[in-house]
Amino acid sequence: MLTPDLAARLRLAFDDDRDAETFRLRLERYGPELADNLRAVYGNHADALIGELLEVMLHAYHARPADLKRLDEARLLRPDWLQGPEMVGYVAYVDRFAGTLRGVGERLEYLEGLGVTYLHLLPLLRPRDGENDGGYAVQDYRSVRPDLGTIDDLSALARELRGRGISLVLDLVLNHVAEEHEWAVRATAGEAAYRDYFHIFPDRTQPDAYERTLPEIFPDFAPGNFTWNGEAGGWVWTTFNRSQWDVNWGNPAVFREYLDLILTLANRGVEVFRLDAIAFLWKRLGTDCQNQPEVHRLTHALRAATRIVAPAVAFKAEAIVAPGDLIHYLGSRDHHGRVSDMAYHNSLMVQLWSSLASRDTRLLTAALAAFPPKPTNTTWGVYVRCHDDIGWAIADEDAARVGLSGPAHRHFLSDFYSGEFPGSFARGLVFQHHPQTGDRRISGTAASLAGLDLALETGDAERVNDALARLLLLHAVMLGFGGVPLLYMGDELALLNDTDFAAVPAHAADNRWVHRPQMDWELVASAQADAATGQPVTPAGRMFAGLRHLLAVRRRTPHLHASTESRPLPSPDPCVLLLRREHPTGVLLQVYNFSEHHITFPTWPLQEQLGAVAHDLLGESQFHLGGPDLALEPYRALWLVAGGNSRPTHQPCLWYAQLRLWVRTPNIALSTSSRWRRNWWTCIPRRCGCMSAKG
Ligand code: GLC
Repeated sequence: MLTPDLAARLRLAFDDDRDAETFRLRLERYGPELADNLRAVYGNHADALIGELLEVMLHAYHARPADLKRLDEARLLRPDWLQGPEMVGYVAYVDRFAGTLRGVGERLEYLEGLGVTYLHLLPLLRPRDGENDGGYAVQDYRSVRPDLGTIDDLSALARELRGRGISLVLDLVLNHVAEEHEWAVRATAGEAAYRDYFHIFPDRTQPDAYERTLPEIFPDFAPGNFTWNGEAGGWVWTTFNRSQWDVNWGNPAVFREYLDLILTLANRGVEVFRLDAIAFLWKRLGTDCQNQPEVHRLTHALRAATRIVAPAVAFKAEAIVAPGDLIHYLGSRDHHGRVSDMAYHNSLMVQLWSSLASRDTRLLTAALAAFPPKPTNTTWGVYVRCHDDIGWAIADEDAARVGLSGPAHRHFLSDFYSGEFPGSFARGLVFQHHPQTGDRRISGTAASLAGLDLALETGDAERVNDALARLLLLHAVMLGFGGVPLLYMGDELALLNDTDFAAVPAHAADNRWVHRPQMDWELVASAQADAATGQPVTPAGRMFAGLRHLLAVRRRTPHLHASTESRPLPSPDPCVLLLRREHPTGVLLQVYNFSEHHITFPTWPLQEQLGAVAHDLLGESQFHLGGPDLALEPYRALWLVAGGNSRPTHQPCLWYAQLRLWVRTPNIALSTSSRWRRNWWTCIPRRCGCMSAKG
């Protein structure tokens, strides 16, 4: 890539030899990847584009603030920074969490208390007014939604976060812009250069041809994939909503624009870009226009260029696609480990809810067993809930492997989580019912889907215990799976559905807002106080304490580094999931009871993996695996390593044992003498590191 012309251009560009050398070395390292991928996509147009990109990169490199350049160097020394078990993500809307960007800055102690190292603030760049798909219809990528603050507030917050070891994560919507975005406005006004930024067709011929193989994303409120726009005089490609215009990545100018946006925002302090709707970038007639090979070439090129200027930056792919397609977002063949650094593990999330409903982990086991391994330098974004609905992405082949019918099981899950299935504990809402396919996606907070709503309504303490135990179980699997756990705001307090969501007119038609509640800071204070007693009694306090314990154990468990995989093992009991991680420090075997039943579990599958004695990191208890069967409590999670307690003075973690007792039977505290209880609780912090989390 370093032609004599380029070398001369570089000499001119720098005053400082060291800077020039750094840029040049990175260009030598990543330039060929950039050029090869651009040539494969843009053919003859690539070389002109590369010249333009060099100017964009040089400009951004010069403008990059010194503290971010230092971060670049630090990250180059620690390329696995996203993979360690200390990474904890938190995902929130700015306004719902803290009102404004400055408000977020005032809540950082709370995040630190949870051990958060990665903060994804849901769309905050200026969206169109009115309905804007939760901010995903962006009108201006260079400014912030006015009521949240300014772009300088964003830089200041990023700096503050960085100082506390928290990476700022922002959405970058790659597939579409709002129809009010300057590019779309100029296209509408007839500027030819900007019309080429979009897919605009004069009549229905091409749209109809594409529609034959295109799915519908929002069949309820935006059926079809094209929208007639009278002013633009054509059918505009709008995969999502009518006001979200798909951009044309076949146009090299679009690539240049997005690279410029990425580098500009990176220089504002964004460390991870969530590449929204990335699967849809490339359109090809006769296909579903998702996951096309060009998508990976474009991402590879964007990443290579970003590494040259800002190697501290990482990409996360928001590709909610089948496992066989998903793996390419982390890289396969030429792109192995060189596209996105992280991708959502949607299947895990879906399968967790599926097993919880069916009390059967065989489908989950089969799906994970068939999952292709990821490149070792990448990581998963693992989650229990997010701001979107849950679509039942259960593959027919996986279902067939365990004797189920895919359509029937998906139907069951929709029935179950909408509360229609007899005996269901869930309180979800149906989102986007598609009569042709029968799809019914589900909205609802994790707590409401896990049964807390219903339990509190019935006033049945046993049901409340089960709901909280389910929530903790799902979080235990998420945290034990490996990857960056993405805690969704409010789940740490078991927040319930926001049943008033429709009071905001722009939200009324989109019931995903039911699980985007306002943060309740009074509840936070009471949950923290409750947890601090060591004997939490409120649902929020119990959830908060339980989650913090799981996070603390995770942080000190090296087996959870994302370079190794969690693989399922066949389990002798369908209610129980077995996950195995093989790490240089030894095997970590996880055991999860997905049912409300006490299970008698044979010890031989555990003994095969761990030998005669195992130590549970979560409960700090020891198990003799050569002996009788294991008694697994309802929704119990074990993280087992071989041998006895590695701590010099072994004591069972009374705190966790007690917490589990409360989760199951809160009244147990009343049955013990107060003196005994006082002694029990005051000695815990010295015995067990699990109370040492900040906050
Ligand atoms: C992503 C977002 C979702 C949004 C869509 C269109 O899937 O998570 O909320 O509706 O992209 O931008």
